[in-house]
Amino acid sequence: MSVCLYPGSFDPVTNGHMDIIRRAARLFDTLYVGVLYNPDKHGLFSPEERAEMLKEACSDIGNVKCVLWDGLTAALCRELHADAIVRGVRGTADLEYEKSMAALNKMLLPGLDTVFFPANAAFEHISSSYVKQIASFGGDITEMVPECVKAPVTNKYKNIKGGKKDV
Ligand code: PNS
Repeated sequence: MSVCLYPGSFDPVTNGHMDIIRRAARLFDTLYVGVLYNPDKHGLFSPEERAEMLKEACSDIGNVKCVLWDGLTAALCRELHADAIVRGVRGTADLEYEKSMAALNKMLLPGLDTVFFPANAAFEHISSSYVKQIASFGGDITEMVPECVKAPVTNKYKNIKGGKKDV
């Protein structure tokens, strides 16, 4: 039985992430999607909120399980007996970062490989950071995130108003 882990910040999960999840779920018997901590990012949502949204977004995919983990990705792979890590790659900038992470995870857990999924063209410009930025200025994120994510994101910014300022 093949078991795989797709780790990420998922702050929040986007349609780009969902595309990777659906494609990976077709290749592996069980796909764990893990909300992990990225020390380089400051979260809009708590890890628990992110995991809750992810769980709802994945509820129609039978072999996907969502987990929340405060620790190393390699340690979670060991815990879950995962054969591989899945990551999406949107472009060359992503690839350099992903190659380093893949190599380090393999050093931490020899035999653990990372499978890269090239982002579909329709999603390669979508990132959680841009979704938050667009929502923060009142832009429409309907096409960028799962239905269950839209209201939580827009609600975070409902009291923030932008616009022209006199100078
Ligand atoms: O969605 P992101 O922010 O690109 O995901 C990065 C993430 C969470 C997968 C990475 O920061 C991570 O693996 N965090 C857990 C701690 C860890 O294992 N760090 C070493 C990575 S080589």
